[in-house]
Amino acid sequence: MVPGVTSASVISEATGGDDPADGWFPESVAEDYDAPGGANAPEVVTPPVDVLEDLADGPVLEFAVGTGRIAAPLAARGVRVSGIELSRAMAARIADKPGGDAVEVTIGDMTTTRVAGQFSLVYLVFNTISNVTTQDGQVEVFRNAAAHLRPGGLFLIEVGLPSLRRLPPGQDTVPFAIAPDGDGGGYFGFDQYDVVTQELTSNHITVSPDGTGRFRRIPFRYAWPAEMDLMARIAGMRLKHRWADWDRSQLTAESTKHISVWETNPST
Ligand SMILES: C[S@@+](CC[C@H](N)C(=O)[O-])C[C@H]1O[C@@H](n2cnc3c(N)ncnc32)[C@H](O)[C@@H]1O
Repeated sequence: MVPGVTSASVISEATGGDDPADGWFPESVAEDYDAPGGANAPEVVTPPVDVLEDLADGPVLEFAVGTGRIAAPLAARGVRVSGIELSRAMAARIADKPGGDAVEVTIGDMTTTRVAGQFSLVYLVFNTISNVTTQDGQVEVFRNAAAHLRPGGLFLIEVGLPSLRRLPPGQDTVPFAIAPDGDGGGYFGFDQYDVVTQELTSNHITVSPDGTGRFRRIPFRYAWPAEMDLMARIAGMRLKHRWADWDRSQLTAESTKHISVWETNPST
């Protein structure tokens, strides 16, 4: 799991009922994504919805809207929300949530898909910029966000900071979960970093009490905030806010994630 953000299950090997076009979030992942607690707990969902509602000054667009975990409650507050999402299996669940039937969803890739309209805010939360695993692709996400924004519009990203300070020389792996269940099974997770290519692979091992288990891997690309600032500049945007969390606290050397907001030129 990318550090700093609680992740529900984000990985699945393709199973019989899964459509490969849904990428890493096919039906077998989507069916558990909205399980109560974790990332769906009200104390996790409400703070981003509060901040996004405050930043919205007109229609907003969520890249990688998923099952509407954030978009639906934001729409329920009266904000006009559109979304772009790669996985049909994830998007199919948006309308089931309060507010979700008001969210206009387009199936597509956030690096290239355009939707009609000009937005006051484009946002991309829960580490999902890192699902785009090339620098070129991440730059295209910034450019696509800027292309959807009106002058002075905002692009917000929430993403974990890479745990590079936890890597001593010669080590490439950082554990994030060691949770034996006491019955012989448990859950074990570790991230593997390639500091040359900026590839980050999350590894999840779930073991049943009988010793059988499942191993899942998902690829990410990490980028330091400064690299994202350059991507924003390539896309014609400038940094406006950088916070350590949704409480708008200051980013420090101990922060595990950042929330950054860039602004398009107000006069073009
Ligand atoms: C961790 S989930 C986050 C979903 C939602 N934003 C949330 O906060 O719950 C990541 C989502 O990003 C979608 N996704 C990944 N890469 C994408 C891409 N290139 N374009 C559009 N959606 C993408 C996945 O299908 C998945 O639904």
